[in-house]
Amino acid sequence: MPGRVDGRVALVTGGGSGIGRATALKFAAEGARVVVADIVPESAEETVRLIREAGGEAQFSYVDVTDEESVRSMVDLTVGEYGRLDCAHNNAGILGPIADMVEYSREDYDRVIAVNVTGVWLCMQAELRQMLTQDPPEGGHSIVNTASVAGLVGSPDIPAYSVSKHAVVGMTNSAARSYGTRGIRVNAVCPALIDTPLAAPMFERAESEERMRLRQAVGRFGEVEEVAALVVWLSSAEASFVTGTPVRVDGGALA
Ligand SMILES: NC(=O)c1ccc[n+]([C@@H]2O[C@H](COP(=O)([O-])OP(=O)(O)OC[C@H]3O[C@@H](n4cnc5c(N)ncnc54)[C@H](O)[C@@H]3O)[C@@H](O)[C@H]2O)c1
Repeated sequence: MPGRVDGRVALVTGGGSGIGRATALKFAAEGARVVVADIVPESAEETVRLIREAGGEAQFSYVDVTDEESVRSMVDLTVGEYGRLDCAHNNAGILGPIADMVEYSREDYDRVIAVNVTGVWLCMQAELRQMLTQDPPEGGHSIVNTASVAGLVGSPDIPAYSVSKHAVVGMTNSAARSYGTRGIRVNAVCPALIDTPLAAPMFERAESEERMRLRQAVGRFGEVEEVAALVVWLSSAEASFVTGTPVRVDGGALA
């Protein structure tokens, strides 16, 4: 049986860990050739190894998403390797310090914005430029940005992160409107807390893990594979009429 994204070329940033690794593995399992991009080569190489071990096709690309030249090289490598770019998952991100807004340093704020906002912006620009030169696959090209439930409601403990994820939702919606008639769909996924290295400080600080668990209607935290399944579905022809949507994958946390 063909996979959901059979024969497509997918690019995942932050593919060396957590949600990005799970998405890269899922893309490959559903038939895509995958470029796994990350600022930490060893972890992304490990994702590539896992994909190949499972019989899939993947390549590593170094990327620092805050660096325009590096982002351009990542897209060039993808096209050089596989000839085109059908699906992009702009997922690299950082949490930044857990602190009140008034305690936030300018330096910390700038770093969160550089990775989470400018990083997604630069990736989208480079990906859109490439996609606009291609004939769209069935259901359209797809860009999926990783936002967060913190991009939909305020998060007092992580204010800069919340700013950054609201911006991701905004640029997702704007790009969806700009490129919808040109064969490119742009969506965002908004996970609640998922147990990854990024979220570890949130777990450490939590007054009670049980209370945090119960914030989700389903009474548990999410798994990276549950986010990956949504990203790959959004990237497939099955989601052909879905664009400009920040989709919650939050176990009902914001219900
Ligand atoms: N874990 C959660 O609870 C949660 C919830 C909502 C949203 N998110 C978002 O999911 C995305 C993935 O996070 P995760 O939880 O899997 O974290 P993670 O720390 O496991 O993975 C993040 C990856 O991004 C990479 N990265 C960081 N800065 C980079 C840069 N400048 N250039 C390229 N790569 C860079 C890291 O090396 C890492 O591999 C992030 O955008 C995060 O904000 C996570």
